[in-house]
Amino acid sequence: MQQADLLRALPKARRNIEARAVAKDPAIIAVAKQYGEMYWDGPREYGYGGYRYDGRWRPVARDLISHFALKPGMRVLDVGCGKGFLIKDLMLELPGLEVFGIDISLYALRRCPEDITGRLLFGSADSLPFPDGAFDCVLSLNTIHNLARPRAVRAMAEIQRLSGGRAFVQVDSYLTPAQRETFESWVLTAEFHDYPDGWLQVFTEAGYRGDYDWTIIG
Ligand SMILES: C[S@@+](CC[C@H](N)C(=O)[O-])C[C@H]1O[C@@H](n2cnc3c(N)ncnc32)[C@H](O)[C@@H]1O
Repeated sequence: MQQADLLRALPKARRNIEARAVAKDPAIIAVAKQYGEMYWDGPREYGYGGYRYDGRWRPVARDLISHFALKPGMRVLDVGCGKGFLIKDLMLELPGLEVFGIDISLYALRRCPEDITGRLLFGSADSLPFPDGAFDCVLSLNTIHNLARPRAVRAMAEIQRLSGGRAFVQVDSYLTPAQRETFESWVLTAEFHDYPDGWLQVFTEAGYRGDYDWTIIG
């Protein structure tokens, strides 16, 4: 298990933390947690503020392919794949790679790029409907913090079970009280978050042996 900065090539998100903090209320949070149209393509107060394919995941895909020495014919699963843009970019970067995704957002799954139709499944990270070792690599980016802690442990155990530890998980975290404060004024959907030590405890409880990194705001 090692920390690996595999999203380093992703353009930094533009965040107006103050505007989000002012707008945020229980009604907005409840709508965001439905992961429907408002979360993906509604105003920024509800989530992404409009999320369209623009190829931004291609350099990340290259880094993932190189880190895991992926080859055509290998099978990769993206847990919490959203609209499937990373899946498309992995397959563009390495033709013949077999990439699949799973997510609980029907809205997002129904808006995946046409060329990956049939590769996406509706389901939850803590109950992955595949046999042990079904994938050569499992990825989960900015998703596992959306489960409450016991379910996050189960999700990490599921990722370990399917991947044998050839996996990469990135979750929300913070290194200082000031970063925690910034995170808490921004966050809408996370059910569990902690300092890295708290997350490493989750990984250990799950028996997770894959790689990981933190998304830190501010
Ligand atoms: C911040 S988005 C990340 C999407 C994508 N991985 C990315 O990095 O662009 C969080 C994703 O987690 C998904 N999600 C939330 N709870 C989930 C669960 N229990 N199982 C699977 N996906 C979940 C949401 O639908 C959404 O696609």
